[in-house]
Amino acid sequence: MRIFIDSANIEEIREINAMGFLDGVTTNPSLVAKEGRDYHQVVKEICALVNGPISAEVISLEYQGMMNEARQLAEIHPNVVIKVPVTEIGLRVISDLAKAGIKTNATLIFSSNQAILAARAGAAYVSPFIGRIDDISYDGVALLTEMIEILDQYLFDTEVIAASIRHPRHVTAAARAGSHIATVPFAVIKQIIKHPLTDAGIEKFMNDWKQVY
Ligand code: G3P
Repeated sequence: MRIFIDSANIEEIREINAMGFLDGVTTNPSLVAKEGRDYHQVVKEICALVNGPISAEVISLEYQGMMNEARQLAEIHPNVVIKVPVTEIGLRVISDLAKAGIKTNATLIFSSNQAILAARAGAAYVSPFIGRIDDISYDGVALLTEMIEILDQYLFDTEVIAASIRHPRHVTAAARAGSHIATVPFAVIKQIIKHPLTDAGIEKFMNDWKQVY
């Protein structure tokens, strides 16, 4: 499973990227708004940092607006992937961008049927929001597992990005389900690096060493 970071914060992305396991970045309007910076500038800086797919979302909800934004974002760097919400207009945009050779990440996916339609329309990635499914007392990992099974069965090229990851178990569950990618927030990446037995082990090694040398 490839690991993306779900963040628009340059320092977070820089810190995680330095560890050598980062494969890409996803952003969304909420994450960009949190930074309060120029959107295109943020995307440009992320592209300069990370050599992998960088998802940037369109804000407009109508066809021409989405297409214009998508084209402008795609011009920033060849690694930019356009994040498009799965709506009737969004599917049309995904299809037309695919025909123009622009990769898309179909976002706000909450059912396998939405993922099938996005894949058929030509989305390079589909992003099921597993944490938000859990939030409403359904099973986000079960949805992810079902979606992967269906897309694999029909040999779609579309890759699944497990999104809305909230805690370390979500990351393991996504890997176990065979998710191609998990996009993980900074705080959860920090959590999955750490283990109390690793810390205790280092402390013991250091103490033993100091007693002799
Ligand atoms: O980037 C999309 C997704 O990961 C959002 O997560 O925690 O806002 O549901 P969350």
